[in-house]
Amino acid sequence: MDAAAFLLSVLLWASSCQALDKFIAATYEHAVIHPEETTTPVTRQAALDLMNKNMDILEEAVKTAAQQGAHIIVTPEDGIYGWRFTRETIYPYLEDIPDPSVDWIPCSDPNRYGPADVQTRLSCMAKNNSIYVVANIGDKKLCNKSDKECPADGQYNYNTAVVYDSSGKLVARYHKYNLFLGEVQFNVPKEPEIVTFDTPFGKFGIFICFDILFYYPAAALVVDHNVDTIIFPTAWMNVLPHLTAIEFHSAWAMGMGVNLISANTHKTSMRMTGNGIFSPDKVVPYYYNMQNESGHLLISELNSHPRNSSTYYPITWNQYSSQNDICPSESQVFNGLIFHDKYTFTELKELHGEYSICQNDFCCHLNYAIGEWDSDEVYVFGVFDGLHTVEGEYYLQICTLLKCQSTNLTSCGESVESASTKFDSFSISGSFSTSFVFPEVLLTNVHLAPDMFQVFKDGRLTSKSGISSHPLLSATLFGRLYQKDPTSK
Ligand SMILES: *[C@@H]1O[C@H](CO)[C@@H](O)[C@H](O)[C@H]1NC(C)=O
Ligand SMILES: *[C@@H]1O[C@H](CO)[C@@H](O)[C@H](O)[C@H]1NC(C)=O
Ligand SMILES: *[C@@H]1O[C@H](CO)[C@@H](O)[C@H](O)[C@H]1NC(C)=O
Ligand SMILES: *[C@@H]1O[C@H](CO)[C@@H](O)[C@H](O)[C@H]1NC(C)=O
Ligand SMILES: *[C@@H]1O[C@H](CO)[C@@H](O)[C@H](O)[C@H]1NC(C)=O
Repeated sequence: MDAAAFLLSVLLWASSCQALDKFIAATYEHAVIHPEETTTPVTRQAALDLMNKNMDILEEAVKTAAQQGAHIIVTPEDGIYGWRFTRETIYPYLEDIPDPSVDWIPCSDPNRYGPADVQTRLSCMAKNNSIYVVANIGDKKLCNKSDKECPADGQYNYNTAVVYDSSGKLVARYHKYNLFLGEVQFNVPKEPEIVTFDTPFGKFGIFICFDILFYYPAAALVVDHNVDTIIFPTAWMNVLPHLTAIEFHSAWAMGMGVNLISANTHKTSMRMTGNGIFSPDKVVPYYYNMQNESGHLLISELNSHPRNSSTYYPITWNQYSSQNDICPSESQVFNGLIFHDKYTFTELKELHGEYSICQNDFCCHLNYAIGEWDSDEVYVFGVFDGLHTVEGEYYLQICTLLKCQSTNLTSCGESVESASTKFDSFSISGSFSTSFVFPEVLLTNVHLAPDMFQVFKDGRLTSKSGISSHPLLSATLFGRLYQKDPTSK
């Protein structure tokens, strides 16, 4: 969009609330300033001082994004106070955040509820810059002894995402449902909350970090509530080969047919980096930086209704597999571990060929050709059908082509960041018994592969010609069987 056209669309939007076919999204990866570790709570003033230091940085990002025409900016989970807390030491950082139905602009009416310094400042950032602002803060709700689940200290603490619209009004509040290990300072809400809000640029849904692995509320927002764009604050620790932030989050957007604006915290010592403005057909722009501790602002245009775009089509993930009678190949197989899951692997022995391998009734098929093969590098094709049980329980069906860490086959599935072997082509498919499959392609040094692959309607993840000039780390169909999760209701 050129500047004049953009100005025109803003004027139309401002004057008539006219629907926009496209909008500009921003996300800020923030190197959070953490409080000192302590076992006794600090004063409210000390907590505010720390939160204001983080908000000073976020506010610069908000201003810059607004100046560049962004309609919405997303900031990370724990982006305002970090994560080193006990239940008691988080107290001074919490505010009581009302239900958005109260129709409140904290910037114009800061004293309507209890102390709301953080909410007021965020609301003013949105209002002063005429931009939607998404942030993550802590909510507290007093409870009664008559409520049997009420914690001993008489309050619920929630990891909470808030959204202020461009007038500064609170339009969404979401309490994180799938807390990660160690989030002892927070409570799980009684029921998963489905939080959506309508804008002139589509229907939005919101969830936080670990939520993305589960049906409630993440998949439900798309399947049952038809949202166009997900906003996703996260503090994501990268895990190779399948769960680095940019890789998995871009794949989720593609598999679900939604835009996903992810905002990660930045802390290389905890492998936290990776932001993106992802859509069903694009993995760019994204940010991944393990070199230094700089924050980073990304800005990009998105379709307001990505599933209405002429290039969008639904995918039947097991179609190729069911239409082609694929028998397991005669190749030798062996077992190996990926993130504690026991895969069946087969080694790629020739420059080109086909393999089919199975676990239980689930089978994966690979067709490939290698262009430049570094003889020090071993690639395997792997299949997994089972319950993952480490750091959360969730059922997976996965087909994956990946580089082993060394030529020793026991290293296959361990984390590896660089490669020099280039594939001319590959095509991967599987007999999935789920419609929730996320396609991932990762290049050497943890780069995504924009325009280098596609997924056909019949479920094949297939490379495009551009792939042949980039060394490949892995290509994966990551399937989730929510109905087999132990927690599924
Ligand atoms: C917003 O604008 C008001 C009035 O111009 C000013 O007092 C306030 O400091 C500004 N706040 C932010 C967060 O920019
Ligand atoms: C606690 O219960 C009393 C009596 O039922 C009620 O008036 C009060 O609003 C409740 N407080 C909270 C925080 O729910
Ligand atoms: C940090 O690294 C990024 C990515 O490599 C680079 O763009 C940026 O200039 C670096 N910043 C500093 C302060 O060195
Ligand atoms: C998107 O497409 C559906 C089905 O074709 C149509 O009903 C709907 O009105 C479209 N929405 C927008 C906002 O264009
Ligand atoms: C491969 O690695 C395993 C486990 O580290 C080790 O026991 C084995 O000796 C290695 N094999 C070779 C051929 O180096």
